[in-house]
Amino acid sequence: MTEAVRTLRDELVGRGLVDGLPAAFLAGITRFGRPPQEELDRLAADVAGLAGRLASGETGDGDLPLLTRVLYVAGHADLLAAHGVLSPAYDVLGSFRDNLARPLGPRLPERPTTRRRWPLLGRTVGFPIGIPACVLNGSEAWVRHNVANGWNVLTYKTVRGRAHPPNEQPNWVVAARETASLAPGADADVVADPWDWAAPGSAAISSVNSFGVPSPEPAEWMADLSRALAAVGDEQLLLVSVMGEGEDLAADFARTALMAQEAGATVVELNLSCPNTLSTSGVKPPLCLDADATVAVVEHVRRSLDDRTGLVAKLSWLDEQRLSALVPRLAPLVDGIAGINTVQSRVRRSDGSATFPGRELAGLSGIAVRDPALDFTRRLVALRDAGGARFDVLAMGGVTDPTSFEALIAAGAGAVQSAAGAFADPLLAQKCITELGETL
Ligand SMILES: Cc1cc2nc3c(=O)[nH]c(=O)nc-3n(C[C@H](O)[C@H](O)[C@H](O)COP(=O)(O)O)c2cc1C
Repeated sequence: MTEAVRTLRDELVGRGLVDGLPAAFLAGITRFGRPPQEELDRLAADVAGLAGRLASGETGDGDLPLLTRVLYVAGHADLLAAHGVLSPAYDVLGSFRDNLARPLGPRLPERPTTRRRWPLLGRTVGFPIGIPACVLNGSEAWVRHNVANGWNVLTYKTVRGRAHPPNEQPNWVVAARETASLAPGADADVVADPWDWAAPGSAAISSVNSFGVPSPEPAEWMADLSRALAAVGDEQLLLVSVMGEGEDLAADFARTALMAQEAGATVVELNLSCPNTLSTSGVKPPLCLDADATVAVVEHVRRSLDDRTGLVAKLSWLDEQRLSALVPRLAPLVDGIAGINTVQSRVRRSDGSATFPGRELAGLSGIAVRDPALDFTRRLVALRDAGGARFDVLAMGGVTDPTSFEALIAAGAGAVQSAAGAFADPLLAQKCITELGETL
């Protein structure tokens, strides 16, 4: 039996947790709705069998996948990390607030590093892999955790100029049926149930999310951001993503970007591509589909910030016509262009009801958007080079293993980030550094 299964079993038995596992697991599985009865019965039988084997000491190596899922869903993911077992890096059953202070998943005893440095946005960084703006970078605690695991290019989760609550839970659901990439530009019709699961470490991960860009109030995030910036070293770059709202959108973007700069940010990223903004008539399309509004925002922010503060525009996947119209207008204003954001998609449960109650549309990412991200990056780099522009490309979308990381670097990205891939495998940066650190 692997050491991890044995030590986990000993701890569960020693702390008297085994008897409560089936009920805690089933409460987690049904937290946001009931799976079909047949599936529920099968899961109940599986967890009862596992609890029996844990109690009698008959667990074996084959139990690790189920034990991992059961402990994660039952709220014991911290035990998995403590025993060196991979688990998803975020508690999708917990609230946005609960997760802010509590990074999940294993933490390496020694930070993976390389001797070489790479140029990025006027600085140099260690191995150019990171985690983009998302809840995995929502606070100082997460930034410290990610740095310890070898992630060097981090973007602090999008914040706003006033406090904003998250959408109703669930906010983040594994899209277990999306195990291959969509074609660039294809419409996605996703079926995803809140109880779906992907094995940690899986390179075939896709997910859908509908957080609605929650934000603490500025006094809170500015203080936290200052501490996060102080916590990163020479090998890392911490960008800060901001978003404006309201009638005078460009002015609110600029006001929020100035708050980030005041807190110490040296590079501000503008979230021009959010697929989860609610309006009275439903979920709105991403801002960057409107080139004039996008350029107005970027111009206003560039004028407002200090010249020394770097500026990055984050875009969604855009078709040929839209991207080639927008990039020449953005190029003189920015130091970098990031993309792609999640792909706005129609998302339903297997019974046809809404996965995210009240929101038909949500953001799809992970392997499902790998080809769109590669296509976007190639076209973006070609447009940059054809126009003689000098901005860096921060590429993301579907990076779940070293090969998909390397493909975006080969396409011309200065650095590559992973959200869904980092959720499924918090040790993905280490894997990429081990495999490519000497040769990239
Ligand atoms: C749970 C979740 C939350 C996200 N939140 C944000 C956000 O606040 N701001 C933003 O610009 N992008 C956000 N994103 C998009 C990611 O930064 C990234 O662009 C996208 O997920 C594609 O990368 P991936 O395929 O590696 O997930 C979020 C993505 C996920 C999965």
